[in-house]
This record gives sequence, structure tokens and C-alpha cells, in this order.
Amino acid sequence: MFGQQLCLVTLLLSVATVFSLDNGLALTPPMGWLSWERFRCNTDCVNDPDNCISERLFMQMADHMASDGYKDVGYEYINIDDCWMSKERDENGRLQADPKRFPSGIKKLADYIHSKGLKLGIYEDFGTKTCGGFPGSKFYMSIDAQTFADWGVDFLKLDGCYSNTDDMTVGYPLMGFFLNHTGRPFLYSCSWPAYVGKPDYQSIAKHCNIWRNYKDVQDSWDSVSGIIKYYGDDAQKFAEIARPGQFNDPDMLIVGDFGLSEDQQRVQMGMWAIMTAPLIMSVDLRNVKPFAKQLLTNKRIIAVNQDPMGIQGRRIWQVSNVDYWMKPIQPNGSYAFAFINFNTNGVQKKINLSLNYLHLTDPAGYNITETFTGKFLGVYKPTAYLHTLVNPTGIFMATAVPLSVYGRY
Ligand code: GAL
Repeated sequence: MFGQQLCLVTLLLSVATVFSLDNGLALTPPMGWLSWERFRCNTDCVNDPDNCISERLFMQMADHMASDGYKDVGYEYINIDDCWMSKERDENGRLQADPKRFPSGIKKLADYIHSKGLKLGIYEDFGTKTCGGFPGSKFYMSIDAQTFADWGVDFLKLDGCYSNTDDMTVGYPLMGFFLNHTGRPFLYSCSWPAYVGKPDYQSIAKHCNIWRNYKDVQDSWDSVSGIIKYYGDDAQKFAEIARPGQFNDPDMLIVGDFGLSEDQQRVQMGMWAIMTAPLIMSVDLRNVKPFAKQLLTNKRIIAVNQDPMGIQGRRIWQVSNVDYWMKPIQPNGSYAFAFINFNTNGVQKKINLSLNYLHLTDPAGYNITETFTGKFLGVYKPTAYLHTLVNPTGIFMATAVPLSVYGRY
């Protein structure tokens, strides 16, 4: 008996220390859609059939993702969040989708989503229950990983409610091990750091493709600006961990929902690109205003986010309530940079600074292009001054490509 227990402990410890996820996925931040922020735990399909968590909702989102231009610019995953399950496991201990809301079952849904050239993500929890109170994976990890693989799922978000956070160091890697063991590639999204006081980011990055590490995004400027501040402060030094295959996740894009002004939506989209964040929309794709749709599908912003080096941008200055952020991008020596005006006094902020201040010091100078519109602003030497006006709770974003790479545009 003691021998068996010792074996188990050795297995668990070796999974946590020796095993690494290394699944070749998320070489750039994943792009997709997730139900939570916009549709929450709405299970009332009788009174609210259009907005409840049901197979119909995910099929409709897949239709719009595939045919309205989102897929063409890189959005790929249709992800189910909490509240998809039946309250009980089946007689073999397997999870089952709520039979009323998902009458065809998850496998059929996965087939449908794959037929559109998209991928399916699902949600579970590390503890005894999901945050919404549905069956958790504790004691069932291996069987759940196999169930998801059998269904053809491509992405797992593993939340951390109703759990003992001390178990996460071993438990999150263990789920990754079981996922790998199925032989099916799973993009693995861990909520692990969001639940522990001092996350061990080295270990988290070894075992997860992406990880939530801060509060849930809500449909408000307070929430979005709070997340940007947390990422700018980077008190736990998580920015340096990001690279291809492993990214910090500041949570979903709420562009196109109710709470942000147009300027604030531009801030979220631009900053999620600079922060090298997963671009996971949570919006009703059946009904997106033209402004938001254009923003969500802006190829120049997406290119900054998807830069192959996968380096997370950093805040380099904070002056008079204005943030200055920089992200290295290709070609070599280039940067995307952004100024965000957090002032709410109703006047545009005049910014007037030489490129030197942004550490853009190549003496040959830089081609500067505004990112939202693609407007070429000119060639600037390091000592030249860039003048811009930034709206209250707005953003200016541009790229700087050294002349030494292409010469003058
Ligand atoms: C939270 C999580 C959210 C969402 C929700 C579901 O803990 O951070 O993103 O998944 O649970 O109940």
C-alpha cells in the first residue's frame, strides 16, 4: 500500500517537474471567440432562446465567424465557457452536455465547427465544481481529458473555483499531461495564476499555452483600464515570460459590446495587440456595429499582435496620466508603440516628443506609420519630434521601422 502511494507521489512530482506541455500550439497569441463575458451563464432557453448557452448559439457564432470576415483575418477558436454541462456525470463518470440545450451533443457540435474550418474550445474546472456550480474535474482529470479528445475538442480552459490552490502546482501540469496523453493537440488555457498569490510563472509557462492572471474583464472602461494598469505595473514580472507557445491572458475583448466608447474600444484592441494577448472576442457576432467589426478585423493591429517573435509589449513611461508602451516587432529593430491618455478632463492631450524618448535611436531614422488607419506619417530621425493629439481615454498607435531595413518608404 505504502509502495503504491510512493509510486503515485513520484508520478505526480515528475509530471510537475519533468513533463512539459510543448504541444507546438499558440506560436502566436490564439484568436477566437468565448461565450462568457457576453452571454454568461444564461441557461434559460425557454424564455431567451437566442442568448442562452446552447449548441444553437455556438453554431450561429461559428457561421458568422466563418462568413463575416473574422476567420479570414485569423480568428479560429469558438470556445464554450461555463454552464454547458448537465449537473450529473453519466453512469461511467463521463461529463455530458445539458441534453436540452445541447441535444446533438458536443461531438456533433465539434464536427459542425470543424466543417467551417474552425476549432472548438471547452471549459472545465480544476476543483470539485466549476465556478457556475457544474461538475468539476477533481478526481476525474484523466477521464475528462479523454472525453474531450473523443469529442474532437481542440482547446481547454481550466478554471480554478472550488479547489485547494496548494494542489495547483501539481494538478495543472497533470491535466496537461493527460491532455497530451490523448494524442490530440489541445491548446491549454490555465486560470492557475489568477488563483494563487505568488504564481511560479516559469512553471506555469512550461505547462500552459496561455494563462489568466488577473480579474475577469467586465463591460466597462474601469475594468479595461484596470487590466492595462496591472499589465503595465507588471509587479510580478510576467511580461518577460511571454513567447511563442506561452502567453499571458488579460481576458476577453469586449469590443462591440455595450460599455466602451469608440475611443475606449480602440484602446482595448490596440493594447491587446501591444500586450501580445490572446484575441478572444466576447461579442454577439450576429449583431456587431460596423465600427467594432472594422476594429476587430483591422489587419494592421492584428499583425502587431501576431508578430512572430511573440514579445509582450511593456509600459516604458507614465507621465501626466499618459502611458507610453513599446513592443518589439519584426523586421529587426522595429517597434509598435502606443500612447494612451487616461485623463478624463475632456481635452485632447498634446504629445510632443522626440523618438529618443522611446529609445528609437537608429541614426538613419524610422518610417513611422499610424496603425489604425495605415497612414504613413513620415521619416523621423531619433532627434525629430513627433506631434500627436490623443483623445481622452483614447490611444495613438504607430509602428517604427528603421530605414536601415527597407530604406525610405
Ligand atoms: C470565472 C472565470 C471567468 C468565467 C467564469 C465562469 O472564474 O474567470 O472567465 O470562466 O468563471 O463561471
